Amino acid sequence: MGTEIFHQYESEVRSYCRAFPTIFKRAKGSFIEDEDGRRYLDFFAGAGALNYGHNPDFIREKLIDYLRDDGIMQALDMFTVAKGEFIKTLQEKILLPRKLDYRIQCCGPTGTNAVEAALKIARKVKGRAAIFAFQGGFHGMSLGSLACTGNQYNRMSAGTPLPNVNFMPYPFGAMEKIDTIAYMDSVLSDPNSGFDKPAAVLVETVQAEGGIVVAPEEWLKQLRALCDKHDLLLIVDDIQVGCGRTGGFFSFERAGIVPDVITLSKSISGYGLPMAIVLLKPELDKWLPGEHSGTFRGHQLAFIGGAAGIEMWTSQGLQQQVEQKSLLVENSLSNIIEELDPRLQLRGLGLIWGLDFSVIGNSDLVERVLAKCFDKGLLIENAGRKGQVMKLLPPLTISENELQQGLDIIRDSMKECFLRTAGQSYKHVVTR
Ligand SMILES: Cc1ncc(COP(=O)(O)O)c(C=O)c1O
Repeated sequence: MGTEIFHQYESEVRSYCRAFPTIFKRAKGSFIEDEDGRRYLDFFAGAGALNYGHNPDFIREKLIDYLRDDGIMQALDMFTVAKGEFIKTLQEKILLPRKLDYRIQCCGPTGTNAVEAALKIARKVKGRAAIFAFQGGFHGMSLGSLACTGNQYNRMSAGTPLPNVNFMPYPFGAMEKIDTIAYMDSVLSDPNSGFDKPAAVLVETVQAEGGIVVAPEEWLKQLRALCDKHDLLLIVDDIQVGCGRTGGFFSFERAGIVPDVITLSKSISGYGLPMAIVLLKPELDKWLPGEHSGTFRGHQLAFIGGAAGIEMWTSQGLQQQVEQKSLLVENSLSNIIEELDPRLQLRGLGLIWGLDFSVIGNSDLVERVLAKCFDKGLLIENAGRKGQVMKLLPPLTISENELQQGLDIIRDSMKECFLRTAGQSYKHVVTR
């Protein structure tokens, strides 16, 4: 099969296929294979939907058994064994051990559906329309989520105003030097500030699409306290960096905070199946029956995968594994920076890392490096303002050997785009 069928009939809106121009056919573990049998190591992991890798046997067998057994596939939000097992597993293995008390709302199957539901319930409970989101934040493409997303390119696509959201400074770049919590406090305390009091603050503890920007633990603690002080709900969007990506199951655990509402999607189904949920404190569960509805609120296979994924995460000690692998990534990338250009910035934790090229060039340079990586058999994408951050997002289950293999490809690809000067440093060169 050639790519003509896509070029001829698929909408121009397609995007990842432009960075990875081949036709994929099958995948296993940390590798994805195209129709010609070429294998690529996957540092993209379905944009965070494949924390357990491709087709993990443990989950796959449970899905096959369920299908073979003619398990229910569509039940809207009726009670099913699959949903019951998922809720039980999430409660017993994740929420109870962390002393977290949440109601689980199953919503439409993608991340943006969870964000929409979270915004709606916050507005309903607090009786206020405004939301505080953050510069650099990414929360999805439907209008409510898009209103909370900073990216101008995406926002322009709305074709309509995106109201009731104020963007606050995230502790990054020039804003790192100012006390952003004090700024928010002053805005919220000053009756003449011009800001409508919000229902909630929506935050990513690590901005993923925003360029792998890790909020300091202390800042997150202060944000929690600020929400309490001003009677605002704290919504943590853990869609990309939850499910073990940063080490703990939830990304906010490192700060020891408890959000009022959590959104989860991407890897929550364990197997890359569409699924999204909202966790909300029981006292916030003011929904009326059917008030927020939808046909695909709960994909039954995703429930099976989700329960198996949680079992896998706990029984295989993935948290400890991630800590170990995190060090490997940090050390290797630090060595690359030292060798090639100390102005490159490294940010990350767990198994989400970003190499920021913004001080030394534009997104063209990152894109050249990524294209070289692809040629050498590594799938990896960019993120961040102007796309200047190389984003490493391997499956949590990747072996250390595979991880090193991918890091070596990154180093080799970068070297080919950087030219050794007379001194010790490299300077980037235009090669394509
Ligand atoms: C933090 C965050 N929230 C929400 C979304 C939207 O999820 P979806 O693309 O499944 O609608 C994303 C997607 O990348 C995300 O990273």
